[in-house]
Formats: sequence, structure tokens, C-alpha cells
Amino acid sequence: MSTGKENSNTIVQRDRVFYGRRRGRRLRAGMEGLLDERLPELAVTLPSEPGAVLEPASLFPDGTKEVWLEIGFGGGEHLAGQAAAHPDVGFIGSEPFMNGVASLIRHCEDEALCNVRIYPDDVRDMLPLLPDASLARITVLFADPWPKKRHHSRRIIQHESIAEFHRLIAPGGELRLATDDMRYLRWMLARATAHCGFRWRARGPSDWRVRPEDWPETRYEAKARDQGRQPAFLRFERLEASD
Ligand SMILES: C[S@@+](CC[C@H](N)C(=O)[O-])C[C@H]1O[C@@H](n2cnc3c(N)ncnc32)[C@H](O)[C@@H]1O
Repeated sequence: MSTGKENSNTIVQRDRVFYGRRRGRRLRAGMEGLLDERLPELAVTLPSEPGAVLEPASLFPDGTKEVWLEIGFGGGEHLAGQAAAHPDVGFIGSEPFMNGVASLIRHCEDEALCNVRIYPDDVRDMLPLLPDASLARITVLFADPWPKKRHHSRRIIQHESIAEFHRLIAPGGELRLATDDMRYLRWMLARATAHCGFRWRARGPSDWRVRPEDWPETRYEAKARDQGRQPAFLRFERLEASD
């Protein structure tokens, strides 16, 4: 039972449920070995002391220009592609699905990436511990759309999460969202544009119907296209307080 005196993070974690999968098909021995060997050194550990903060820049070597967060990276194709293209940026990926975590570690090994850290769990446990303006970009690609009305509260994009992303992204930074579900697209747009601290960067339809060049494709996007669904790509600038 809550005493009401605990760190608020503790209480939130206790009330929260993660509805996705943590494990899928049994991993091949090599992938399981990679996970056991590399995850301990790549994993982000949350501080447990009440009031403690996790400074994202402290996870990376000196000289790292800024830190980007990708939430629900799936197989890690997009995160690994960005990390390879931006070696001076530190990347944190959050993903509770361990097969996806193993896949990202495989990418890091194959492409010798040194600028990736992994939070192998529900991102909502980590976000409240990050200081204001400590990230330059947050990316959420093809988040589960939870189409049934009674499940809409499970969607990761909510007014509250948009406000939290706004707190975390430094002015001038960017929020990137993608979806292939038109109802979720409307939902995302309604929430992101309702926040006066974000400006949608699109000037015309091609700005959101065509994936920008600096935006590697994910496995989920490829599957959506194969099945005839047209994805949408949204970029929002995090404005200065006075803008
Ligand atoms: C539909 S998949 C898309 C994966 C990937 N972004 C892609 O485009 O291929 C959504 C992913 O979000 C992850 N996810 C859902 N809720 C999450 C949360 N609270 N924190 C971190 N990841 C989450 C799921 O485990 C799943 O892998």
C-alpha cells in the first residue's frame, strides 16, 4: 500500500501496466549469447534513490554533441541507421521486447556502433527521471495504435506524454512520429498540435506523406507498405518558450 511519502516514480510504476510482448520466438543461441554478453554494458540503469535524476549526457563519452531518444525501436533498424549517420550524437533506445533488444545489439555489433545505450523496458519508467531539456530529439515510430475505443488509454501518444516530451526536448529540438493508421494519425496530430510548444514542420502533403531522407525505414514500415498501407511521417519543432 502507498504511504503517500514515496518517490512519485515508485507509485506511478506500481500503477502502470505494459500491454505489449516482452518475449517472442525463442532466440537463437548466438543471439541469446549476444544479449547476455553485451546488454549489461549497454543497458541504462535507473537510479533508485528518491529524487535522483538520470542525466542522459552522462551515459556517453565527453564530446557527445546531444542525446536522442527512440521509444519502441522494434528491431532497431532506424536507431542503428541514425547512430551510424550521427556518430557525435548519443542514442538511447527504449524497448521492452527482448527479441528487438537482441536485434539492436546485433546491429551495434555488425556496424561497430559505440553511441547506443538501451533501456530494455517501459520508457514511462525512465522519462520522469530525465531532466528538463536534456534531449535534442524524441522519436516514436509506428507505436501500437490500439484501435478499439476502450483501449485508447493505452496509446503512448496522449496529451500528457506530449507535455512530457515537450519538457524533455530542448528548444529547437524535434519530436518525430510515424504511423500507418489514419485514425491514430488524426489522434497524434490533434494532441501534438494542441500543444502550443510544438510547431508541425509540414508545409505541404509531401512533407508528411514522403519519408524524409534522413529517416531510415523500419521493419514495421516495410510491412505496412507491403500490405498496402500508406505511412505518415510527422516532424514537430520544439519551440522556445517565447515563440
Ligand atoms: C508496432 S511496434 C513498432 C516497432 C518499430 N518502431 C518499427 O517501426 O518497426 C511498437 C513497439 O513499441 C514498443 N513499445 C510499446 N510500448 C512501449 C513503452 N511503453 N516503452 C517502450 N517501448 C514500447 C513495443 O514493444 C513494440 O516493439
